Amino acid sequence: MERTEICNARKRSCFAATISTFVCFALFLNLITNAAAFAAHHLVTIHQLKQNVIQTRLCEQRANVKELLGPVSPATMQSYNLPPSILSSGWSAQIVTRTAKSLEETTDVQLIPRNEKDHFVDTVTVEIPLYSSGDVDRRQEGLGIELLEIEGGREDGLGIVIVKGLVPGGNADNACKYDNTPSQIERIMYGDSIVKADLILRRRGSGTNEEQTDVRSIQTECLGYDSMVNQLVGLLTPLNDHAMINSATVILTLKRLRRRPRIDVQLYYPPAQNLPPATITLQPGDNLRMAMLQRGIKLNDPLAQRYDGKPTGSGNCGSGGLCRTCAVSVLRGGELLSPQKLNEKKMLEDTPRWRLACKSWVGYGMKEGDVVIQVNPRQW
Ligand code: FES
Repeated sequence: MERTEICNARKRSCFAATISTFVCFALFLNLITNAAAFAAHHLVTIHQLKQNVIQTRLCEQRANVKELLGPVSPATMQSYNLPPSILSSGWSAQIVTRTAKSLEETTDVQLIPRNEKDHFVDTVTVEIPLYSSGDVDRRQEGLGIELLEIEGGREDGLGIVIVKGLVPGGNADNACKYDNTPSQIERIMYGDSIVKADLILRRRGSGTNEEQTDVRSIQTECLGYDSMVNQLVGLLTPLNDHAMINSATVILTLKRLRRRPRIDVQLYYPPAQNLPPATITLQPGDNLRMAMLQRGIKLNDPLAQRYDGKPTGSGNCGSGGLCRTCAVSVLRGGELLSPQKLNEKKMLEDTPRWRLACKSWVGYGMKEGDVVIQVNPRQW
């Protein structure tokens, strides 16, 4: 709570942040006139940010989670958007150290959720044409995005800046007007943070009619307001030479805080086991067998037929998809599980409701909901 109040005290009015030279000038004036007033806040903010920086090392990610979750629609993701009151105080930063094969270490700073238990970081890209048609030439108007600094004032230029809004009628506002298919396309939202920007310029070659394409990129993750504006203004500088430019497009990569989807798995045990039903809450990408074992749920069915030549009752195959000891009967919510592959389908063709828990990952399509299963289905 104390941190939020400090952040709020530092919020600057950035209405003019159309990422143009005008903004730079305004910002310069702003800095001069408010320098003394900001000094006290800066000291506190630096202290706060340092306390929130976590030295960490990337652990190996499950490489195939994306594949297991299948296609994800923007409409589904939009149901996990968070309200502005959470977005304005939901970001933090961490230092990430990566070790290459050569043992060389690189370090960078990443945006992370302050509440990692309930929120996650999604990445969206938005294309903003800086167009010119007829009398209207918007190529030099900048992006038209209002920015808000919630952490900053550090000498190293690091900080946290989010999108506050879009300038009505500006380039970003025009690019986000998808009135026909609003749920199928991601727009720029309050609370997004720009982490990368690419400028794609198509221009006439000198002395020739051939069109050339230039691509320029900048990284802006965890930059404070001043550094971010400077980077964006620098990226757009080639637009000053607009006479030679046929078209210009900016592709923004934005990090967005979203609520973690949840899948409630209701478990029913065979009457002979005399156990009450239980519910476990999982997240997309969790493996059903691992999640159940971690919660002490016994899956090993001694009656299960094996497919690896070992005798019945000789243990499990350790998620190899060969022993069927982890089979469960899915009464509801089967569509929230990753689809069966051919081997599993063949093994369970006589029992269409059954799934191998070791080959089932929850949250297919990043969807949330309830899954109802019977444990040890041979004992029912
Ligand atoms: S643990 Fe053997 S098939 Fe799942």
